[in-house]
Amino acid sequence: MDDLIKQAAEDLAAASKVTALTGAGISIESGIPHFRGKGGLWERFDPMEIAHIDALMRDPARVWTILIKEMKEIVDSANPNDGHKGLAKLEEMGKLETVITQNIDGLHQAAGNTDVIEFHGTFAWQRCMDCSQKYETRNVDISEIPPRCSCGGILRPDAVFFGEMIPQDALWRSRQIASDCDLMLVVGTSAVVQPAALMPVVAKESGAKVVEINPERTPLTDEISDYLIMGGASDIMNRIVAELEKIS
Ligand code: OAD
Repeated sequence: MDDLIKQAAEDLAAASKVTALTGAGISIESGIPHFRGKGGLWERFDPMEIAHIDALMRDPARVWTILIKEMKEIVDSANPNDGHKGLAKLEEMGKLETVITQNIDGLHQAAGNTDVIEFHGTFAWQRCMDCSQKYETRNVDISEIPPRCSCGGILRPDAVFFGEMIPQDALWRSRQIASDCDLMLVVGTSAVVQPAALMPVVAKESGAKVVEINPERTPLTDEISDYLIMGGASDIMNRIVAELEKIS
């Protein structure tokens, strides 16, 4: 493990364009639930019943009651952890340019990263399903469910539900950045949801090193990643940053 931390610090020091792809795993230590595996949201709910656009259109009040309301309570009070802060530190050190995240919790921006591509949209804003007016989530009154726009339309998170397209600019820029970087850190994602999981493949095919940080193996581990540093994002990021500070 120590050897891999050193290796990652050396690879970061040698790289000139570093990007990161992150998933729910990096936010677990901030109290945000992940999706798959033990304790994941999809253990409690069938995503097709609760996180599919058809479910939202059919019965927004139900989706608000079961999923969105709880997410709002959690996200409103969440703070970045050392995993997010480590990536922000890498940007501050001039090492990391862009974070591509599948997360909708805004914690990379809260930690200090300035170029964050929100691949699955954001939970920071709600938008009216009728007139598209946007409201900051933290200011939305949820005493009545579902909350409504001043036009009377129902509000929904400005995030991607299953069955919806990835925002085109996020997809386009992510592909561009993945094909342009020479090192991609892949932190806390099960790498099973497309097209996000394709970004490390694009990076690898374009000649970049791919370094995974995850307590478990993923479909990328054998085929795509140069190496996997097994562990939680906070601990591993702290150790990589400390090592990088020693050698740079
Ligand atoms: P998942 O819940 O699928 O995967 C979380 C990953 O985090 C797993 O690989 C875990 O092993 C890992 N993990 C657990 N604890 C960790 C820790 N302390 N530090 C680092 N990693 C840890 O989440 P995603 O890969 O983000 O999409 O899921 C991708 C997409 O599926 C989400 O964006 C969401 C979901 O359905 C939409 O809602 C559109």
